[in-house]
Amino acid sequence: MEVRPYRPQHDYRLVLGAQCDLYQINFPRFVCTPAFLADQAQRLRAAGRRPFENGIFVLEDGDEFVGFVWVAIRMDLQGTFGSIDQVYVREPYRRQGLGRLLMAAAHNFVRQQGLSVARLYVTADNQDAVRLYQREGYQITRYEMEKPTS
Ligand SMILES: CC(C)(COP(=O)(O)OP(=O)(O)OC[C@H]1O[C@@H](n2cnc3c(N)ncnc32)[C@H](O)[C@@H]1OP(=O)(O)O)[C@@H](O)C(=O)NCCC(=O)NCCS
Repeated sequence: MEVRPYRPQHDYRLVLGAQCDLYQINFPRFVCTPAFLADQAQRLRAAGRRPFENGIFVLEDGDEFVGFVWVAIRMDLQGTFGSIDQVYVREPYRRQGLGRLLMAAAHNFVRQQGLSVARLYVTADNQDAVRLYQREGYQITRYEMEKPTS
């Protein structure tokens, strides 16, 4: 099992191919449309051209694509930070501790950019992800809340 930097030529289709699954898991009402995929494809191509602002790392088992992490350097009112935008482990490989390897690569990238904070959003129902992040030391700093109005 190896984590290595994203190689656009080799990995583009694999990372793009995971997008529907990733969003469907996190957003129950999400519908994966061609327009969504076109948008993600454009984001991914742009990220590949800006490697200092986008750390994408791929986890491989020999030649087999296992998962990836995508961390983007962002700035907001609280300063500059590493935003863990996507972490994905393919279904057969989940629950083996591999998410941790991807998180380590992302944190390393953030540190290499001279930054000391990583931040992320996660769907509260996505318990596998929430627990991974808690084990990694993430603390809740804000809540996004909703209620049905009818
Ligand atoms: C979230 C996600 C990346 C976690 O990856 P993962 O590799 O399964 O994570 P881990 O293996 O580190 O942890 C998952 C569970 O496996 C358990 N585990 C870890 N090593 C294990 C092992 N050797 N044997 C059995 N279980 C193990 C962990 O304790 C954890 O269980 P717990 O949550 O009950 O404590 C993965 O579930 C995924 O890709 N989900 C879909 C995409 C997604 O939602 N991403 C997050 C939002 S972008």
